[in-house]
Amino acid sequence: MTGESSDRTAIITGASRGLGLALARTLAGEGWTLIIDARGKEALESARAELSRDARVIAIPGDVADPEHREDLAEAAREAGGVDALVNNASVLGPSPQPELLDYPLDVFEQVYRNNVVAPLALIQTLHGELKPQARIINVTSDAAVEPYEGWGGYGSSKAALEQLSNILAAENPGLRVYRVDPGDMRTQMHQEAFPDEDISDRPLPEESVPGLLELLTGDLPSGRYEARVLAARVGTTTAAS
Ligand SMILES: NC(=O)c1ccc[n+]([C@@H]2O[C@H](COP(=O)([O-])OP(=O)(O)OC[C@H]3O[C@@H](n4cnc5c(N)ncnc54)[C@H](OP(=O)(O)O)[C@@H]3O)[C@@H](O)[C@H]2O)c1
Repeated sequence: MTGESSDRTAIITGASRGLGLALARTLAGEGWTLIIDARGKEALESARAELSRDARVIAIPGDVADPEHREDLAEAAREAGGVDALVNNASVLGPSPQPELLDYPLDVFEQVYRNNVVAPLALIQTLHGELKPQARIINVTSDAAVEPYEGWGGYGSSKAALEQLSNILAAENPGLRVYRVDPGDMRTQMHQEAFPDEDISDRPLPEESVPGLLELLTGDLPSGRYEARVLAARVGTTTAAS
């Protein structure tokens, strides 16, 4: 734990596995207070138990698409005395395998947007009063937001919407740092769902994207779009995957 970070608080959504858990582990090691969520109670509790060895951790099971759950996160933020960072990391892929747009079930399409676009903005709105001066918001997006990969029309267009709302939010709020961040391909459950028949063991672990996120949370970079691993390489802090 470092003295500098020990009074900082972050909300990380979707921190029971994958990138969210990898980031939570790093911030816990630096003494941040963490407010974390995920829908699955068991995996979240296991993450909380592990992270609590290093830091104060408030784990609130729930769905970011649920307004009551977002209020619970805001209440925890108030009790913690405000937050220095909100990391909108929780996200859904949609069906696996992903259907092409002409066949995409619209009820599922709306559900993907509720999770990946509406929920991050709603959480920012709900937490607005709890954001400390110079607070950072990281909205985790994807290269699928900008590349026309066939089959990625639901998830990809939701991430494109998240990117542009981040872009405009930053323009409207110069006092905030709003980062939209592509973490790169990572060996996680979501990635396996996206490529159900592929061996994904050659993809980097999410830990390799964490130093880039850490630079955004603790450095002085302006609002904008970043690629986490490119940023990590630029600041020379890339850590080896464990
Ligand atoms: N993996 C990649 O290659 C890749 C590439 C580009 C961008 N990304 C982005 O990186 C971020 C992290 O992805 P990941 O690969 O680490 O995914 P992951 O391994 O599937 O983890 C997702 C986490 O979010 C939680 N979650 C999902 N939906 C939620 C909801 N509605 N409410 C609360 N928690 C929810 C999951 O737990 P529960 O399921 O229990 O809720 C889990 O903790 C996502 O924004 C993703 O779009 C990933």
